Amino acid sequence: MEVNRAANDRAGLLIATMPWLAVNDYDRDGWKTAADASARSRQYCADLEAGAILFFPTLPFDLPRPNVEFLLALKPAESRLHKNISYRPESGLLRGMSDDASKQRVEEIMRHYAAEVRKFVAAFLAPYAGRVQMDYASFRPLEEESRNLPLHKRNDLLHVDAFPSRPTRGGRILRVFTNVNPAKDRVWMVGERFSALAARFGGAAGLQEYANRKGLWSGVKRALARIGPPFPQRAPYDEFMLHFHDWLKEDAQFQQAKDGKEQIAFPPMATWLVFTDGVPHAALSGQYAMEQTFIVPVEALVAPEVSPIRVLEKLAGKAMS
Ligand SMILES: [Fe+2]
Repeated sequence: MEVNRAANDRAGLLIATMPWLAVNDYDRDGWKTAADASARSRQYCADLEAGAILFFPTLPFDLPRPNVEFLLALKPAESRLHKNISYRPESGLLRGMSDDASKQRVEEIMRHYAAEVRKFVAAFLAPYAGRVQMDYASFRPLEEESRNLPLHKRNDLLHVDAFPSRPTRGGRILRVFTNVNPAKDRVWMVGERFSALAARFGGAAGLQEYANRKGLWSGVKRALARIGPPFPQRAPYDEFMLHFHDWLKEDAQFQQAKDGKEQIAFPPMATWLVFTDGVPHAALSGQYAMEQTFIVPVEALVAPEVSPIRVLEKLAGKAMS
């Protein structure tokens, strides 16, 4: 976690051993000093892209307490608690709720939440403003500890994120999380960052084979797209990242190894930002979180050279988009 420690030292803080980078110069009212806001904002983007977890002890956007309490009070029958409630801000589509009296209120809560996080990201991470794609927002009502899920869906195994239904073609997955549990920490394990991870395991996970597939796969995809229903147009990068997600979860030795891993406890009402395609993470315990995902295209990154696609392309010696 050198990047985080260096950044903390830069800010002259006394939390150099924390596995996150605490943000002390931005809060719900915006930047504390407007003069260097643009430089600070760019630096935070660079820190995030290099693998830092940016941490806010209190909410940096508006999330009214009654809204949180309404979500926490939902009964299993209303929220079909076997899964998350998800909300697609662009289309207003809400999933995971049965069609009852609470649905409209939950829709309003998620719409307000997504709009507030969007405004926050545009102000705090100004280099991305107007250039990011809004992905799903979610409310996660289940206790993460001891969930009975198939191996590839388990959240408590270390992995990097990749979405089967939403290929990014190299765009990065930025997530904003808030622990809305009033009393209990949300506990994560994180591992060594993407460039080190890919250098260690990319070869064993078949990176070269995925990078070489390009010609064949794009031809097949073009043909299928002409004749069939729409399906995700994955680049070799997307194919490898999906495979790597599963491969890491399947590797018992990697999961059990202690080196390079840190446990983090996010306290109630803390918010944290992280590129989950570059920071291997596992949710070990905790209940009730809200989360908004953004896709940041490579062109909008301030340090594209450390993005997973560029790291993989360098290792494979081939373009993968
Ligand atoms: Fe994840």
